[in-house]
Amino acid sequence: MKVETFETPQDAAKALAGEVAELIRTRAAEGRNVVLGLATGATPLPFYAELVRLHKEEGLSFANVISFNLDEYSGLDHDHPESYWYFMHTNLFNHIDMKPENINLPSGTVKGDEIAAHCAAYEQKIKDCGGIDLQILGIGRTGHIGFNEPADDFPELTHLVDLAPQTLAANARYFDEPDTMPRQAITVGLGVLMRAKRILLLLSGSGKAEITERLLCGRIVPQVPATILRLHPDVTAVIDEDALQLVRAHAPNLIP
Ligand code: PGA
Repeated sequence: MKVETFETPQDAAKALAGEVAELIRTRAAEGRNVVLGLATGATPLPFYAELVRLHKEEGLSFANVISFNLDEYSGLDHDHPESYWYFMHTNLFNHIDMKPENINLPSGTVKGDEIAAHCAAYEQKIKDCGGIDLQILGIGRTGHIGFNEPADDFPELTHLVDLAPQTLAANARYFDEPDTMPRQAITVGLGVLMRAKRILLLLSGSGKAEITERLLCGRIVPQVPATILRLHPDVTAVIDEDALQLVRAHAPNLIP
């Protein structure tokens, strides 16, 4: 895993958006699409703001972009303000020129017996589009990526997951009535992420200092799902100084 360090989340977001913009422009010049894997959460917000700025001020077009989001809460429909569909449209899609038919998220409203088929179809659609060229990832305090929570094994396939207590605690603040927060979500499996051609993993803020240390210095174990990314051939962890503070204190030689 390559590590790039930045003073602030805004500096990291600019670098990240610059790489994504270059890929989009190169592919557009070749008449080809780009498949992006996208994430929600507080971490990628400065990155999405920078993509919107590049579109509005520098004319970056997203007409050749196909996107697949990592996950969606089970039980929330599109217009619920805490659905990830709503999040992505409010923070990115409503402000750029992506074609609506190129936007993909797992459904929050499939139920019961239909969930397994929905998950399989979502994976198949990613494959049919040629796989993910560039995956943007955040990481939860549990070490989850997507909503792949700590477990005894690395979950390979897209599936319905019970959210970990720490994740419920971290995200309940976004809900007006925290008790109504869904307890389950559909998430892409780690197989989808490990097949992405390139991954940019963002870690920002002191709240991520502990998990940053476990990610970079700990063992590769399914109890910290993000550690599997160290086996991927092309991952860059983009980390700001607040998130790096424990690694700097305990293992300064492991980072640039
Ligand atoms: P955050 O969430 O960016 O809001 O910290 C990240 C995650 O849970 O994957």
